[in-house]
Amino acid sequence: MPIPMTTYNSSPLGGRIRVPGDKSISHRALIVGALACGQSEIEGLLQSEDVLATAAALEALGVSIERGEAVWRVHGRGVGGLSQPSIPIDFGNSGTAARLMMGAIAGHDMSVSLIGDESLSRRPMGRVLTPLKEMGVEVAERDKSTLPLTLKGSSELIPIEYHTPVASAQVKSAVLLAGIHAAGETSVIERQGTRDHTERMLRHFGGTVDERNVEGGRRITVRGDAELEGARVLVPGDPSSAAFLVAAALVVPGSEVTIEGVLANPTRTGFYVTLKEMGADVAFLNPRDQGGEPVADIRVRAGVLKGVTVPPSRAPSMIDEYPMLAGVAAFADGETRMEGVGELRVKESDRLAAILVGLAACGVEARAEGDTLIVNGGGRVPGAGQVATELDHRIAMAFLIVGLASEQPVSVDDATMIGTSFPEFAGLLASLGGKLSRAVGEL
Ligand code: S3P
Repeated sequence: MPIPMTTYNSSPLGGRIRVPGDKSISHRALIVGALACGQSEIEGLLQSEDVLATAAALEALGVSIERGEAVWRVHGRGVGGLSQPSIPIDFGNSGTAARLMMGAIAGHDMSVSLIGDESLSRRPMGRVLTPLKEMGVEVAERDKSTLPLTLKGSSELIPIEYHTPVASAQVKSAVLLAGIHAAGETSVIERQGTRDHTERMLRHFGGTVDERNVEGGRRITVRGDAELEGARVLVPGDPSSAAFLVAAALVVPGSEVTIEGVLANPTRTGFYVTLKEMGADVAFLNPRDQGGEPVADIRVRAGVLKGVTVPPSRAPSMIDEYPMLAGVAAFADGETRMEGVGELRVKESDRLAAILVGLAACGVEARAEGDTLIVNGGGRVPGAGQVATELDHRIAMAFLIVGLASEQPVSVDDATMIGTSFPEFAGLLASLGGKLSRAVGEL
């Protein structure tokens, strides 16, 4: 049942908060923990629907997971130790869960049926299936490249060298996770660097990962027949969730907010780099290391912003933040051009289209020229729109943030999908002083 939500022009936001654990790292901690020998402990795991889908998938594959309030324990089965599930595995809305798990399943002699919700069933899986088929995986439905499908793995995977045509950490990760099961070295060469959490996580669990710059990009190589050891993982706050609250503090005049313990890995911080170029007062304070990942406290103060051009080379490091950047750009002076954002068309929704429709509903001028998204900021946003979220959590959150500073309220038709990545969104926003239609905790 859809649950609409509305936000209203708010008084200055303020406070010090933490956001829940990083979604990408949470998926990987569970998967790599499951493929390790012995017990792993994960603290700060994001307990959202997407991550729960990965946990349920692993349980269906024979992994035992103890779900504590603060710490989750994964009893790993070792590389190649997953077992035949008796039911189809349902990944819900999560592309990361589906694609990474395809890589994890690939090295096992079993047939696994994979299903997902309406949004996930539209998303391209061929980008992962192409390299996995090269390694020896088969798809029962032959040329099918969307869910539902049945993956037939093999315990004799062939190591490959794969030049990935798309800048996608999910594709890279699927190949690397399959690669640790193969006999020999498997490499992925990416033209543009993408988030490197799989590489870091595999090393953290004792895997051998080599990374080097080569002609035409960066080569990441994993050693096959890997032996991983259970480990302890402390998951930092999710910069992609923090982005919404940072944006709220930027656009609501007079605000000052600090978000503690946020992942500051440079493969994820493109949004913050862009905000600084727009003139935003955003500071990464108290930088530190947390379990092999850089972390900082982000302090943000509202201020006047100007339009900028975001180069295509930055896209992988802020791919999930374009809906929110488009919302922020609406409040900036002048034009913001976001170049090379074609991948937005194959996210949880066609985000390029959803952003344009949403901005139009809020009275903001925007257009797409090929793979470039252009927003004409006017310093003020009329609002009064009802935005279609298209089963997409980030479209919902981005437009709810716009409504905090637009002249008239902004409504989204369905806020339920927010639970896939950031179930605490409404509660945290309200705690900072944001005005929302729903009582805290109702979502
Ligand atoms: C993710 C990678 C990105 C991102 C997604 C999470 C990951 O997708 O959009 O939300 O955890 O690897 P792509 O790798 O397809 O760009």
